Amino acid sequence: MTDAAFHDTTNSGGSSGGRVRVWDPLVRIFHWGLVAAFATAWFTADELQPVHEIAGYTVAGLVAFRLFWGLVGGRYARFTQFLRGPGQTLSYLGDMLRGKERRYLGHNPAGALMIVALLISLSGTAFTGWLMAEPTRVAMLPALPQIVTPAFADEDGEYGEYGEGAEGEGSEALEELHEVLANLVLLLVALHVAGVVLASFRHRENLARSMLTGDKRGPEPGDIA
Ligand code: HEM
Ligand code: HEM
Repeated sequence: MTDAAFHDTTNSGGSSGGRVRVWDPLVRIFHWGLVAAFATAWFTADELQPVHEIAGYTVAGLVAFRLFWGLVGGRYARFTQFLRGPGQTLSYLGDMLRGKERRYLGHNPAGALMIVALLISLSGTAFTGWLMAEPTRVAMLPALPQIVTPAFADEDGEYGEYGEGAEGEGSEALEELHEVLANLVLLLVALHVAGVVLASFRHRENLARSMLTGDKRGPEPGDIA
């Protein structure tokens, strides 16, 4: 790949071969807190509603924190450090298929895309859960019924109104959407973990352990730091 010109290839610290700090403590607490909160929300869904809702709000709070930290956090926590445009992302994915993608000290372009997808789908799941928990909240969104109810029209082509309460067709559509989003998150998590395992093998380093300790092998020639 010849995209070195697009990237900052300078080594920001640490000697080649040594360990360098990449993930700050708040990114690590955020990550494993998110894993725990999502797992709790998943396993308590339809089982233990109060715990489910607290876990869901915890997910929302963690995502909100991460958006803030992406603006003001350390070098490798910042969105400007790891978010790439479509061209570079596609070029990286092409390199992955050819098995010659470069090693990134921070998030690689495919990982960065996955992070965006995870943050958006987690937000959507928590938001639809929040809407569902109290029927009057849906009334605050006048545009939503036109967007989601047609697929749930009854045989006469009439649509349920959200205002009619938790048992209305609108709330069924919302519950469906909440579940679809939760399942989408699960699918993305599976791909995310597969990506982590693949990158760990390709670059011969344990990336999951780095997300625990914060440290990674220092940049070597050809790496993008
Ligand atoms: C519910 C499950 C999970 C979710 C929602 C999730 C979400 C995320 C997010 C949002 C990031 C970005 C971190 C940041 O910069 O703030 C990330 C990175 C990362 N996650 Fe996860 N994750 C999950 C499970 C896992 C698991 C089980 C592992 C271990 C195998 C793992 C390993 C990693 C690693 C190594 C990174 C850094 C990737 C890189 O080197 O660029 N994640 N994850
Ligand atoms: C972001 C994390 C969340 C995940 C992964 C998640 C996941 C799920 C799943 C999979 C279901 C379907 C359960 C089933 O019918 O089999 C469900 C139902 C539900 N969730 Fe969530 N949820 C999350 C957040 C929330 C939040 C923040 C709230 C509200 C404060 C909430 C409220 C509900 C309600 C009211 C139901 C319907 C339960 C029932 O069937 O009576 N969820 N959730």
